[in-house]
Amino acid sequence: MKVAIVGASGAVGQEFLRILAERNFPLDDLVLFGSERSAGRKYTFKGKEYEVKLLQHNDDFKDVDIAFTSAGGGTSEEFAETITKYGAVMIDNSSQFRMDKDVPLVVPEINPEDALVRPRGIIANPNCTTIMMVVVLNPIEKLSHIKKIHVSSYQSASGAGAVAMAELQQQYKEIIETGEAKTIKKFPHQLAYNVIPQIDKMTETDYTKEEMKMFNETRKIMHSDVRTSATCVRVSSLRSHSESVWFETEKPVSVADIRKALEAAPGVTLVDDPQNYVYPMPLESAGKDDVYVGRVRKDLADDNGNTLWLTGDQIRKGAALNAVQIAEYLIKVGNVK
Ligand SMILES: NC(=O)c1ccc[n+]([C@@H]2O[C@H](COP(=O)([O-])OP(=O)(O)OC[C@H]3O[C@@H](n4cnc5c(N)ncnc54)[C@H](OP(=O)(O)O)[C@@H]3O)[C@@H](O)[C@H]2O)c1
Repeated sequence: MKVAIVGASGAVGQEFLRILAERNFPLDDLVLFGSERSAGRKYTFKGKEYEVKLLQHNDDFKDVDIAFTSAGGGTSEEFAETITKYGAVMIDNSSQFRMDKDVPLVVPEINPEDALVRPRGIIANPNCTTIMMVVVLNPIEKLSHIKKIHVSSYQSASGAGAVAMAELQQQYKEIIETGEAKTIKKFPHQLAYNVIPQIDKMTETDYTKEEMKMFNETRKIMHSDVRTSATCVRVSSLRSHSESVWFETEKPVSVADIRKALEAAPGVTLVDDPQNYVYPMPLESAGKDDVYVGRVRKDLADDNGNTLWLTGDQIRKGAALNAVQIAEYLIKVGNVK
């Protein structure tokens, strides 16, 4: 099994290296790719050094079985043909192909079988905020069909990549040293001591691209007609996204039944004892695999509504871990190459 990581120097790329090692992923050979910026840099994987190769249009992917790509949509679009032409399965973290009809969009806890039909050799990893929400809502969907979702997200700086994480830390340093944040490049406004109610560009619907991903991708993953209205907000946590989720089911569902379903759900941990100040928070979910859920309660304004709070490490379950789980599923069912 030969595995490639495209975008190895990035926030998601680095997490791939950690997760593949931690899970003892059955690989015999590993090859790392990047642009001119990181080509030549060395990273250690299980005690062995690997040098980042420059991603080019050549035959470097000839023997590759699985390519994890996390180098942005433009790179995925430009290199998809080069990566897949000899049969490598491309598991792509960008948003480039997610809504294409001939590209499956997969969360292994929900629709793993979709990964088996991939005419272009590409499987898309969904948007991070969407993955975490559907992992939690899918067990509830089994109790009664979810018709509507309203969600506000609280997304950490690292969602915008390694440089964005460094920018937030730099802003705090500058404020402490000079009283003012000077480095404002990756985000449209100062993020330190602030929240920014816009992630990605606006669309003609008056929702952002990130918010439209939550609408469209939730339907595709869950094979559902559910409608999601999202407000995606950047907050100054460093790692791990949170979401306040309200949902309306076809039939009323009790909080006790929701708790029971969440306790039994794969990839979900219920942390729900607010009387004792116990609920999920990004500082605690950072670096962990599960999506953590709490504050489960009945909606006061709708008999068929319930509401909950979730948080999870979007670089792990929202990106690298979900992609590795897809690969593990393909290996388990003998469906690689
Ligand atoms: N961060 C998250 O929480 C998250 C979650 C879900 C999905 N994603 C998606 O995952 C992708 C990567 O995100 P990230 O946060 O890891 O970004 P990042 O930290 O900015 O890293 C970007 C990576 O892409 C590589 N790259 C850029 N242009 C390239 C090119 N022309 N050829 C080869 N490599 C190139 C960079 O390599 P160089 O350093 O060599 O330029 C770097 O390794 C994006 O599509 C993002 O939307 C991110």
